[in-house]
Amino acid sequence: MRVGILTGGGDCPGLNAVIRAVVRKGERHYGDEVIGFRDGWRGVVDNDWIPLDVESCRGLLPRGGTVLGTSRHTPFSLPDGMAGATETMRMLALDALIAIGGEGTLSCACEMSDRGFDVVGVPKTIDNDVAMTERTFGFDTAMTVATDAIDRLHTTAESHDRVIFVEVMGRNVGHIATWAGIAGGAAYILVPEEPFDLDDLCAALLRRQRRGRFASIVVVAEGARPRPGSLEVAEPPIDAYGHKRLGGIANLIAAEVETRTGLETRVTILGHVQRGGSPTPSDRVLATRFGVAAIDAVHDGAFGEMVALRDGAIERVSLRDATARLKPVSEDMLDVAHTFFS
Ligand code: F6P
Repeated sequence: MRVGILTGGGDCPGLNAVIRAVVRKGERHYGDEVIGFRDGWRGVVDNDWIPLDVESCRGLLPRGGTVLGTSRHTPFSLPDGMAGATETMRMLALDALIAIGGEGTLSCACEMSDRGFDVVGVPKTIDNDVAMTERTFGFDTAMTVATDAIDRLHTTAESHDRVIFVEVMGRNVGHIATWAGIAGGAAYILVPEEPFDLDDLCAALLRRQRRGRFASIVVVAEGARPRPGSLEVAEPPIDAYGHKRLGGIANLIAAEVETRTGLETRVTILGHVQRGGSPTPSDRVLATRFGVAAIDAVHDGAFGEMVALRDGAIERVSLRDATARLKPVSEDMLDVAHTFFS
């Protein structure tokens, strides 16, 4: 078969491991020819691609980012995008397309599948918010980076009796914040799933101080928002693709906490360091399993489906179900986090 592969949306550790696995099993097991589109769906629309084979994928397993490049464009956002994508598929005589991405890329894959394109989806994102899969690769790496940062911030916070606010990524969900916050022993964790009350946070930090704990780490998900009336927050700016550009809420919260409590605060915004660099072993393995499962799905004609981790096994779910909603942090995990709030 002739199979195309693309990586869309924000980059994420493990993308290259998926590409390598698709190529390895495709070429060696099925005798496929694999081509890689540059910059996500943009490469499909513009017929911009590179050939991929086992040799060209050497060394990719531990490498962060994506060798194919990525963008947030889709055939629906680009002028004459659908016509371009249709023409590319016809000219290249492609039998199938594997789309690796998060919410935006997979929603597009679902739409394309509805319009007759033979697409299989692979879920990626550090945010871990894709529904119908327990995990997306990239999350473990981001959580590990964030936990390491929190461990380091503890010692400096303790030396200076400060409250350090650590802002992590995650968009509309708080998986990275919750997992890294629990792993790093945070005093408080703010996530989008639970609008926060600034008075509660201040009271918790002061209670902690009365018990003789002068240093605290507060983990703030970039998408955390206050309960109405608790704190004025401006709407984030919108980027070129219509997405909210998040980041910086921790600065506002820290300043307000310092004013209300008199505690000295500092802020660390981890930003893109969470999604750069080499994937953890766990992400390498998950990405490899997804890649192998994706090329198998292509050969089974499982189009319009996405590979997913469910009960520890790799299964297939419909792209429609996977993109119908986001996956929030579970109540169980939030309860565990609450246990340790000061
Ligand atoms: O979705 C992954 C993610 O890293 C989010 O956590 C973050 O809000 C966003 O991408 C930032 O993306 P960029 O800076 O590439 O637009």
